[in-house]
Parts: sequence; structure tokens; C-alpha cells
Amino acid sequence: MNVLVLGSGGREHALSWKIAQSSQIDKLFIAPGNAGTNQTGTNVDIPVDDFDAIKKFCLDEKIDYVVVGPEKPLVDGIADFFAQDPDIRHIAVIGPNKKAAQLEGSKNFSKEFMKKYNIPTAKYQAFTAENLEEGYAFLDKMKPPYVLKADGLAAGKGVLILDDLNEAKNELRKMLEEEKFGDASSTVVIEEFLDGIELSVFVITDGQSYKILPEAKDYKRIGEGDTGLNTGGMGAVSPVPFADTGFMDKVENQVIIPTIKGLKNEGIDYRGFIFFGLINVKKDPYVIEYNCRLGDPETEVVIPRLKSDILELFEGVATRTLSERDVVFDDRTATCVMMVSGGYPGQYEKEKNINGLNGIFDSIIFHAGTKQDGPTYVTAGGRVLCVTSYGKNQEKALEKTYENLEKIEFEKAYYRKDIGFDLVE
Ligand code: AMP
Ligand code: GLY
Repeated sequence: MNVLVLGSGGREHALSWKIAQSSQIDKLFIAPGNAGTNQTGTNVDIPVDDFDAIKKFCLDEKIDYVVVGPEKPLVDGIADFFAQDPDIRHIAVIGPNKKAAQLEGSKNFSKEFMKKYNIPTAKYQAFTAENLEEGYAFLDKMKPPYVLKADGLAAGKGVLILDDLNEAKNELRKMLEEEKFGDASSTVVIEEFLDGIELSVFVITDGQSYKILPEAKDYKRIGEGDTGLNTGGMGAVSPVPFADTGFMDKVENQVIIPTIKGLKNEGIDYRGFIFFGLINVKKDPYVIEYNCRLGDPETEVVIPRLKSDILELFEGVATRTLSERDVVFDDRTATCVMMVSGGYPGQYEKEKNINGLNGIFDSIIFHAGTKQDGPTYVTAGGRVLCVTSYGKNQEKALEKTYENLEKIEFEKAYYRKDIGFDLVE
């Protein structure tokens, strides 16, 4: 099998690391990749949104599977682009088509979907500039904190949670009338605030059946104790101790099964990963958001816990035979901690030499924002790399991760020292 992975983060390094271990892999390429993915296969310098260049590469290299990491090409219709072209129709895209990707691409679409199929989620209403006054009236009726969500993709920045009513009204106006998030906020969803602890649950589906992957919890804030600005994610833990059998049964019966059935009922052929962003409110799961892809950094702990051959699962998705495939997981805990450039998620410097990577054998280093400069690795992004370790429990896994993080250095490196702090029992 020849496989092309699209993306350049830690998620894509974890995916390519796993694909490279498959007995079925012949050639593995990553576009555009990072310095880590290039150790698992071959990086190719094609941006993820250049569909024509991707097509040409797939034909030249006789690619069998295109595995899509980030949401943007999915929401832009890369799966449809392949399905509609007789030259490349035979290539399986692991990732949903444009309509299906609306689960992530439009908050309003996903909220309507959840309402229609009785999937537990926060109460909400959607507004546009035409009914701004009704939006104000809706806010008047709600209790703080107020949750405002731009309908479209806004690079993870489109959600505002505000305590003050006037500020909420002002922000609503800015989103709708001043296009604070561009087109993405021409519709805004206002919803009830849910108080609880978040977790991420992933399934892979062929449109008929599904397999649940290990759940994970990520840490989005830059500062310890979950303080400060939101980031792409600073670390992750899997499994999540509070996601016990009772809770996961509710997730499957109240969230996953109705979602898969609902998609089928809508005539949406969803093939790929579904990421359920959940919140545990007094032991009941509520959906905060859907994503049409795997999470980052969750993938860096979820994929290492997958023992089965990932290409067999992809084959199951492509040929709609997922129900016949086995998925086996590693019982151990996996934890990862992200090492980031000082200043991230604000301004930061790049091109810093990274030292100490060679002496680490009992953790996995997944690269995110790195590139190779001759024999040395240098930083090339905000989230630079993460260190994933296994352990018989969270404490042991984190111990190893932190021990190895101390061996890695680059100028102005930063990482959170409290990943998993809220899960200790
Ligand atoms: P989203 O992009 O929808 O995942 O929202 C970003 C973050 O905002 C989530 O990860 C939550 O931490 C928070 N959030 C979103 N919606 C709610 C809600 N209804 N209640 C509480 N927190 C929320
Ligand atoms: N870690 C959250 C995300 O990938 O959206």
C-alpha cells in the first residue's frame, strides 16, 4: 500500500509513525510534514489545500490511501474532489466529504443535527445580523457566563465565554455586524454554559459501523492550573479515569449511536474519524462540539494505545468492512506534554536549535513545529514537539515524560508541568 498523509503537526507525526509500522505499507509520504514525519516516510512539499498538486502526486506515486489530518481540506471538500474525478476515484480518502465535515465546519449545522437526533448538548439559538435585536433579547433571558460561537471555522478562536451581559451583547454585535471572525461569524450560536470537565472521544466509521478508540483529555490553556490563553493543546492523557464503563456506555448510547444513525438518516456518507468534544456534567455526557478529524495533541496519546494495524482499519473504512476488523488497545496509560516556543500562543521566535533528542529511548518524541537544517533540528512553529510515554498509570507515564523533557532544550522552550493535575484520584 502507498499512503499519503496530509498535514504537518504532532497528530500527523503520530499517524505516520503508526502507518509506518503496518505490515502492508510500501511507500509512505507526508505533505508537507515536519522533521519528525520525514523519519517515518518521505516529506513532500505540497500544501494541504493544493488539491491539483495532491492529485498529480497521487497519480505519479500510485497512492492507495490519502489520510487527512486537519479539518480545512475536509471542510473544503477534498473527499468530494477525489470521488468526483474518474482519474482518482479509486483512491480512498480517509476523512469525510464536504457535507459530512459540516459537523465541524458549521456550529449551526451541528447544533441542528444534535437537536433533531436528541443528542445531549447545550440549549442554543442561532442569530445573524438581521435578528441582532432578538440575539440581545435571548442573552437577556440567559444566565452568565454567556457562550458565543462563530458558526464557521475560526482557527479555534471563534468561541467567546463572557461573564458580563453588556460585554456579551457588544461582542455579539461585533461578530455579526463587524465580522469579527470574517465570514465565519456571519451566523453566531449563543448557547447555555455547561459546567463540567471535558474529554475527547474518537470513533472511526465506514458510514455503517464504527469502532470507538481510546478516549483522551487535552489541556488547552497555556498556563498551569488551566489558566491563560487558549492554545492548540499543551498535553494529553489517555485513558481518562472518570470515563468509566458507566460513563462510556452513556457516551455510546446517547451520543455515538444516535450520531451514526442520524448521519445515515440524513443520507450523509461519513467515512473517517469523528471527534466528539464532550463535557461531563454530573456524570452525563453533553456534546460541546464535533470535529471531523482526530485531535491534536490527543492523537499523540490515542494512536500509541492502538495495537491493531491502522491500515487494516483504513481498509475497513474504504471497503465498508470495518465491522469485520479487530481493534485492540494497550491497557497502559499514555501521556504527552507539548514543548512550545516561548511567547506562544502569542508572538514567538523560530529557527532555534533543538538539542537532546538523540538520548531518549523510553519515550516517543512526536514532532510538531520542527524542520531539519542540515544535521540539526530547528524550531518552526509555536508547538514544537511532544514527549509521549507509557506507564502502568498516569503518574508513572508522566514521570517518564517529564524526565525526558528535561533532556531536551531549545532557547525559550516552555511546557506545562501540571498535565493531568485534575485527574489524579
Ligand atoms: P468549541 O470550539 O465549541 O470546542 O469551544 C471551545 C471551548 O469553549 C471548549 O473546549 C470549551 O472549553 C468551551 N465551551 C464551548 N461551549 C461551551 C459550553 N456550552 N459550556 C461551557 N464551555 C464551553
Ligand atoms: N485538541 C483539540 C483539537 O484538536 O481540536
